[in-house]
Amino acid sequence: MTANAKILGTGGYLPAEIRTNDDISKTVDTSDAWIYERTGIKSRRIAAPEESAASMAEIAAKQAIANAAINASDIDLIIVTTGTPDCVYPSTACIVQERLGIKNCVAFDVQAACSGALFSLSIADQYIKTGAAKNVLLIGSELCSRIVDWTDRGTCILFGDGAGALLLGASEEPGVLSTHIHSDGAYCDLLYCPNPQVEARNDKNGLGFINMRGNEVFKMAVTTLERIVDETLEANNLSKADIHWLVPHQANIRIIAATAKKLKMSLDQVIVTLEEQGNTSSASVLLALHQGISDGRIQRGQNILLEAFGAGFTWGSALIKY
Ligand code: UT7
Repeated sequence: MTANAKILGTGGYLPAEIRTNDDISKTVDTSDAWIYERTGIKSRRIAAPEESAASMAEIAAKQAIANAAINASDIDLIIVTTGTPDCVYPSTACIVQERLGIKNCVAFDVQAACSGALFSLSIADQYIKTGAAKNVLLIGSELCSRIVDWTDRGTCILFGDGAGALLLGASEEPGVLSTHIHSDGAYCDLLYCPNPQVEARNDKNGLGFINMRGNEVFKMAVTTLERIVDETLEANNLSKADIHWLVPHQANIRIIAATAKKLKMSLDQVIVTLEEQGNTSSASVLLALHQGISDGRIQRGQNILLEAFGAGFTWGSALIKY
């Protein structure tokens, strides 16, 4: 019998420093009113110099393991998704494996920019369905503050740091119902962050900063996410009314509101974290899922639709019965 990937536990970590819109307004030509109105963001968290993707991932992972009430040694696969890995290699997943003291499991990183959580979830689901893994730890951990050009008001207002974790376990009960992931490399120029050491592509300073044509990305995100909502519902033969919660990537409240409208959902049925977290790239969906589960809004038996859109372009969704 094929196993289902069931959510066993979630975890999250946010660094202590809070950087408000007013703080940013002191260094670039912007305002709290503009940022809040155009994005829905009020503040974001900034990691301390000694923190890294692996150190934040470790904390979120330990919380997910504790909430799942399993032994770390029972994890057979660790997937970390990050655009800000500690090293080119080893993978951040291997560093986390060592920090968690787990022997004899497989660990690797996945890179799909802001869609990384959905790509990782899709991989984890296949491993569990085929019986190749029983317990999969999935972590998104991002230090966006280190790859943001703090003089570019078009990007520095958007991003934040944090880590989210999800433990999935094989179950006979329904869990992940479907995953849908897509890529289209034709749009690399609209959103990219070069690797300054490789220098295959230069940004304006030769540094590894996020470059984004925000308005074009915005339009593509809205139309693409509307399409993937239809694809997800059709694959499961479900209607909009069957979805209890939308757990979206947290890029812009106007993008989130457009997807909710497409689903005929009020914002009360959407887990929104971006007001206080900004866009934490691949960590955002996992942090939002953790928020909705830990504060008791998302209940066992409910259907959750996760979605994300990011550089590549990449985009993905998942329907999960919690
Ligand atoms: O997570 C990965 C996917 N990323 C996204 O989905 C991000 C999508 N993009 C966005 O969220 C929005 O495009 C932004 C928030 C980045 C920008 O909002 P927008 O409504 O698309 O503004 P815009 O880029 O069209 O710029 C409108 C005006 C421009 O001024 P002019 O040319 O009309 O005089 C910009 O220079 O707003 C100006 N502007 C700002 N003004 C004050 C741009 N950034 C700022 C700013 N403060 N921070």
